[in-house]
Amino acid sequence: MTTAATERTPARTARKEAKAGKQASLAAEVSGRKIFTAANADRHELYQLSVQNVEAEIDFVDEAFEELKGRKATKLREDFCGTGNTSCEWVRRRETNTAVGLDIDGPTLEWGQVHNVAPLTAEQQARVTLHNRDVMTPGDATGADIVLAMNFSYWLFKQRADLIAYFRAVHETLGDDGVFFLDHYGGSESMEETTDKRPIEGCEEHGPFTYIWDQHEFNPITGEMECRIHFKFADKTRMKDAFVYHWRLWGLAEIQDCLTEAGFSKVTVFWEGDELDEDGDETGEGNGEFTATEEGTADPAFVCYIGAEK
Ligand SMILES: C[S@@+](CC[C@H](N)C(=O)[O-])C[C@H]1O[C@@H](n2cnc3c(N)ncnc32)[C@H](O)[C@@H]1O
Repeated sequence: MTTAATERTPARTARKEAKAGKQASLAAEVSGRKIFTAANADRHELYQLSVQNVEAEIDFVDEAFEELKGRKATKLREDFCGTGNTSCEWVRRRETNTAVGLDIDGPTLEWGQVHNVAPLTAEQQARVTLHNRDVMTPGDATGADIVLAMNFSYWLFKQRADLIAYFRAVHETLGDDGVFFLDHYGGSESMEETTDKRPIEGCEEHGPFTYIWDQHEFNPITGEMECRIHFKFADKTRMKDAFVYHWRLWGLAEIQDCLTEAGFSKVTVFWEGDELDEDGDETGEGNGEFTATEEGTADPAFVCYIGAEK
């Protein structure tokens, strides 16, 4: 039996997807790049291309540290380092820089060793070490000028006592004149169950793809949230739940209180400036410049940095 309804289902969809895939391959071939597909894409590579901007992150922490301390930092520790991408950018930045990354996920660290550490020069490789280690027990990873906890990783601590215990562990092991930098996400939209799609340019070998940020579940009573990352490709294939996070959505004021309670002497929030249009009016889009301030704006969604001095 062939009805309009059955014809609309798998066969027609498959033909449509094949056509779309062919068009996407042709477009990528024209630009000299292959297309990413669910079959050939690597989730860590997609994450690095869509979520991270390690150059901008290191620009910020390098400048903010100098602003706070009046000197350049050399020793960096990257907590929750994942693939160690940020640590590698730090050692590329200056010959005097050293980095140590801590993470408890063996396969992710191994991926970072192969794809991020190995391509560095031998001299740079000698200045970066990735450890399979819990951030609560950093061992000999002490005395850093800068400790980083980026991409909201510290939100995996859902109880105030556990969060403060982590902040205390950082405080104890940070260098005497060191700064702990964290990022933070807030605003009314951070509490919505919603998805946000963003086109990503791709890389030298592979063409564009779509990054999907899925604020899947939020419980306003406990602040617990589940966020997921999915990817969609030009041939219409998808990588669903490439990353899943179980977090507590902490308030920015509460984080500052916890840092102070953990022993940090001074906590500074760095707020992003507004992009201006040609008439000099604010566009509502961030300009990538973060400055120390005590007054933010009631943006529906914002990302800011926090610097906590020992
Ligand atoms: C959101 S990813 C952050 C990756 C990277 N920091 C970034 O900026 O994109 C969180 C990472 O934290 C790691 N992780 C979770 N609990 C940890 C712990 N107790 N100690 C060290 N790493 C941990 C996970 O394995 C994962 O790689």
